[in-house]
Amino acid sequence: MFALLIQDPVNINGPDRSPQQAVDAYGQLTKLASTFSHVDGLFYFTYAVCIFFFVLIVGVLLFSVVKYRRKTWDQLPASNTTHNTPLEVVWTVIPLIIVMIMFAWGYMGARDMTVVPLEASRNTYKASAKQWNWTFHYPNHPVASYNEVWLEVGKPVQFLLESSDVLHAFYLPAMRVKRDVIPGRYQSVWFTPTTVGEYHLFCAEYCGKDHSKMYAKVHVVDTATFNAPQRPWDQWEDSTPELAAKSGANLYSQLCIACHSVNGTPGVGPSWKGLFIKNADGTYTGRQREVIDNTDGGKRKTITVDDAYIIESVHLPEAKKVAEEPYVRNAMTAFPDLDERKVRGLIEYMKTLADTK
Ligand code: CUA
Repeated sequence: MFALLIQDPVNINGPDRSPQQAVDAYGQLTKLASTFSHVDGLFYFTYAVCIFFFVLIVGVLLFSVVKYRRKTWDQLPASNTTHNTPLEVVWTVIPLIIVMIMFAWGYMGARDMTVVPLEASRNTYKASAKQWNWTFHYPNHPVASYNEVWLEVGKPVQFLLESSDVLHAFYLPAMRVKRDVIPGRYQSVWFTPTTVGEYHLFCAEYCGKDHSKMYAKVHVVDTATFNAPQRPWDQWEDSTPELAAKSGANLYSQLCIACHSVNGTPGVGPSWKGLFIKNADGTYTGRQREVIDNTDGGKRKTITVDDAYIIESVHLPEAKKVAEEPYVRNAMTAFPDLDERKVRGLIEYMKTLADTK
């Protein structure tokens, strides 16, 4: 019960990402934004039962401690009663009934959440979890999105959940859904978003070092916005190198920032600063780099950083691994679904971090 109350401290939203408070006030649920209102009923029922019994038990305890306390050292026990059968039956049967109500209520809720209606199954998204980000694939649209997903208001949706590494959990408090994401099998949840807005999606299963950073934004938008010719998750401005670099910088802050710095500080992976060198005539030359070439039997080689190398490293990071310590010991997350246009945006951004000759 208390774990339920403290699972989402109010200050979980950083300054840059605060679409909706995870919990509006201590001990209260966030505003409901789906049709699963029975979850709130059960939550507040459980809450009320806990408060009632806490007050009752502590009250009786305090009363007895004061009333029946020993007043002199040689005072004999006030009573020799060892048990009272009717009383014991009462305090066994009443809690049993209450617990069975909670069980039946919870069971029906879990069933509603996991038995997917036809309408939702026709609107199936795939949410792929891995350490430590979310990838979303849309029904009837080829472009995937990362750590952000767009839904149409009022339309039942199913999420097919998969993990390519360890246990994660798909937890969307505003929609009142939570489901473990288990490697090696598909799980699913469904709900109907009822309110336009932005919501938090959390990973609710401890999954390693950056578990706490594994959250995503869920945008619930109206039908017109959702179906706009330029879908909201497919907006990518790259008509000039400057705009591409700006889009790339934005994507960097969602996907890459956890491991790669842009100021030369070493991280889990190498910094992006100075990957390119800007020549006097405005062109760029890639820096030389020692790599372990796993596409060629793990040979040590010196390569020159270029677009092809970076595209390969995003899609298949183990192909040519930086040979330098400590990076050689760390594995990078692969982003095989990141289309080349977006990787080129990242490259344009890298070029803005170039050293000048
Ligand atoms: Cu993924 Cu915690």
